[in-house]
Amino acid sequence: MAFVVTESCIACKYTDCVSVCPMDCFYEGPNFLVIDPDECIDCSICVGECPVNAIVEEREISPDQAHFVQINRDLSHDPRWKRISRSKAPLPEHEAWAKVKDKLHLMEQV
Ligand code: SF4
Ligand code: F3S
Repeated sequence: MAFVVTESCIACKYTDCVSVCPMDCFYEGPNFLVIDPDECIDCSICVGECPVNAIVEEREISPDQAHFVQINRDLSHDPRWKRISRSKAPLPEHEAWAKVKDKLHLMEQV
C-alpha cells in the first residue's frame, strides 16, 4: 500500500507535500506530481500539507479516483519524471484550477 496523488493536484502543483516526505518519493511532471508506491513508507505526513487534499491512502481512494493508483505507479517510474524534494512556487493559475474537477485531460505527461 502507498499514498497516491489524485486529480486535484493537476494544474495546481503546490509542492508543499515534497518538503516533508522522509523518503523523497515524489516525482514531478509539467503540471502534476506522483508518489512512487515502492518508495512510500505510508507515514501520511504529506497528506495534511496539500492545500487541495490531493493525497490519499490507496485503500481509501474513491472509485472515481482509482485510476490514479496506476498513474502514480507508471509515471513515478517514467525516466522523464524527476524526483522532487524541495517545495517551489505553485503553478500560476493554481487558485482557479483548485476548484475545477475532471482535470485528467489537462495532465501533461512530459
Ligand atoms: Fe512520503 Fe510519507 Fe507521503 Fe509516502 S506517505 S509520500 S513516505 S510523506
Ligand atoms: Fe500536488 Fe498537493 Fe503536492 S497540489 S504538488 S499534491 S501539495
